[in-house]
Amino acid sequence: MFAKITGTGSYLPKKSLTNHDLAEFVDTSDEWVKQRVGIKSRHIASDDETTSLMALEAAKDAIKSANISAKDIGLVIVATGTSEYLMPSVASILQHELSIPSCPAFDIGAACSGFVYAVDIAKQYIENNTAKHVLVVASERMSRALDWNDRSTCVLFGDGAGAVILSQSHEPGIIASKLHTNGEGLEMLQFKSPLKRKLDETHSENAYITMQGNKVFKQAVSSLTTLVNELLEDAKITKKDIDWLVPHQANYRILEATAKKLGLCMSQVVVTLDTQGNTSAASIPLALDYAIKNKMITSGQTILTEAFGAGLVWGGFIAKF
Ligand code: UT7
Repeated sequence: MFAKITGTGSYLPKKSLTNHDLAEFVDTSDEWVKQRVGIKSRHIASDDETTSLMALEAAKDAIKSANISAKDIGLVIVATGTSEYLMPSVASILQHELSIPSCPAFDIGAACSGFVYAVDIAKQYIENNTAKHVLVVASERMSRALDWNDRSTCVLFGDGAGAVILSQSHEPGIIASKLHTNGEGLEMLQFKSPLKRKLDETHSENAYITMQGNKVFKQAVSSLTTLVNELLEDAKITKKDIDWLVPHQANYRILEATAKKLGLCMSQVVVTLDTQGNTSAASIPLALDYAIKNKMITSGQTILTEAFGAGLVWGGFIAKF
């Protein structure tokens, strides 16, 4: 039995913030952000558009697109690092709001690689015949984790949620999946929890995402180019068999480097970075949903996904549609 993606969904906050808007309150420019990163604008959640609300809307969209009922779902996994709750999990909220019958439901933290980690877990449940349909959601409200005075981070990220349904299938779906961690690079990219405060502290310091962008960039390019070979080898296919690259959307130059490694032209890369920014774990399912709804990825095609993030954690999968 194979695990196949049978539905996708997404949710993007209504408000969009352009580079020009940003330049009004932080020392940056539209030109710098477009040239160095590839972003023109990003979506920013209102106070009502919480991580769990965005996850719920993306999940409903994916369930509809897979043409199943929420009652058919046997596992819920949510990838997030920016939930409004440290507990309960967003997955518990979804199970309740969607009236999914009692089943395992949990959140995972693997930063920007959270979605590919969640898909890898879902694949095991399906191949072991433990679940017939799995709901995988990635939802991030990065705007609440940013120091809006820090130009080295605040111009990069955006908010949103993406979801997929993975289902049992007689035809191949996820044909390779590979995950990695190297905890030596912890200080390169961090978002500290308020729980880090000392016992006698009455006020916790505001905690924001900090990043040594240049170091992360170099690690990402070298790790992802190696990952591509590992995935092709595992799937027993060659780069000519890949129709689309659906990458984590962090920097256009990282996308170009991975595409080059695969021998793909940029028209075979799904790019949402320009209008969504880096939505961390949510960026791949958001890009996947965009490409499917716009009929870019079609039945019979093969895609490769890859992600890299804080931890350092990276990974990806190859899927047939
Ligand atoms: O998704 C999780 C994983 N994250 C990533 O993969 C992100 C990887 N890193 C990157 O994408 C890039 O390193 C960044 C986009 C974060 C930064 O680009 P860079 O080309 O590595 O720039 P830099 O940090 O080396 O900075 C170059 C210059 C500096 O000025 P000086 O020292 O050369 O005068 C910065 O102060 O650009 C300056 N700078 C800015 N200027 C205008 C940094 N941020 C900005 C800004 N606007 N927002």
